[in-house]
Amino acid sequence: MTSSARPLLNRRLAEFGTTIFAEMSALALSTKSINLGQGFPDTDGPEEIREAAVRALRDGLGNQYPPGPGVPELRTAVAAHQQRRYGLRHDPDTEVLVTAGATEAIAATLLALVEPGDEVIALEPYYDSYAACIAMAGGRRVPVTLRPQHGENAGFRLDLDELRDAVTDRTRLLLINTPHNPTGTVLTPDELRAIADLAVERDLLVVTDEVYEHLVFDDAEHLPLATFPGMRERTVTIGSAGKTFSFTGWKVGWVTAAPELVAAVRSAKQFLTYVSSGPFQYAVAEALALPDTYFEALRADLRAKRDLLASGLAEAGFEVFRPAGTYFITTDIRPLGESDGFAFCRALPERAGVVAIPNAVFYDHRETGAPFVRFAFCKRTEVLEEAVRRLKASAG
Ligand SMILES: Cc1ncc(COP(=O)(O)O)c(C=O)c1O
Repeated sequence: MTSSARPLLNRRLAEFGTTIFAEMSALALSTKSINLGQGFPDTDGPEEIREAAVRALRDGLGNQYPPGPGVPELRTAVAAHQQRRYGLRHDPDTEVLVTAGATEAIAATLLALVEPGDEVIALEPYYDSYAACIAMAGGRRVPVTLRPQHGENAGFRLDLDELRDAVTDRTRLLLINTPHNPTGTVLTPDELRAIADLAVERDLLVVTDEVYEHLVFDDAEHLPLATFPGMRERTVTIGSAGKTFSFTGWKVGWVTAAPELVAAVRSAKQFLTYVSSGPFQYAVAEALALPDTYFEALRADLRAKRDLLASGLAEAGFEVFRPAGTYFITTDIRPLGESDGFAFCRALPERAGVVAIPNAVFYDHRETGAPFVRFAFCKRTEVLEEAVRRLKASAG
């Protein structure tokens, strides 16, 4: 311990103590609750991909430092995936960078592109690492709030005028996330076009977190921002194997962008981890080449789980914002006579044996996020059924 009065944690990180996920997961354990808080599947991804990782390990592939940008097999597979799915062409050697999950991709991108004092616009509620990484880069976050719409087409929508008004001469980049955690919103082609037009008009860089690209339901379609006119050269696209292949612990992510952007991100990335996940990179290369049937089955499975949890939550009295993408459902607790999501989530494990996350942690404007609570549905059907049973019972 130092004797000086100066706090140990520096000023940039002072507001980011421990994440709510640690608190809520500890509560889940101590109360033996069903944990619908943190977003990780409770079953592993495809057996053949697990076997591919074992094979790589046994064959001595990736057990020593892989190449800095990632193993060529994975970079080629990422480029092939972007082309097959979206018609985006990327040179695997200069336009693809493998990272330690999307988390490192976000950190390295912001550390590389943001100067102290630069403004970074992020959609609020935002994935919690965005705020911390903007702070570490010395940037200033400027949240643009997705607004809830109630009733028939309940959901959270982007107000394009608010986005436009948030841009100033200090704005360095737009940090976009679609499909969006925690609201489940998938930005429409019109919204994406408007974002692209704004970025071109104001000459902004765009960082787009598309880790839930394959988790879209019903009529929703994921379109990468990089496919819109003028965006290919100014966009850093972030992907991850964790969500698509249900191996969140492998931490394999990637960045695709123009060569100069990838080079910039690599400059930061090389001093964060340098490299990671050697054998898993080979397995993910195989996973990205899985046939369309894999991706369709994943979507169908999650859609059924979404429907199960959404109806259960509605029957338990929550207002449900039915997500078009991701594996999260945001609810409004006001119909239950509650208004403080923090208090609600801290009491829920004792009361109902279920853990959820208060969306307020994803807001600068905490009072705006106060009545919203997020549940994850990437769990086995019987687990979701039991959670619904408990929530209904506790609602009386
Ligand atoms: C929006 C978003 N971005 C990034 C990540 C992190 O992804 P990874 O596990 O690949 O680091 C998550 C994980 O929950 C997420 O929800």
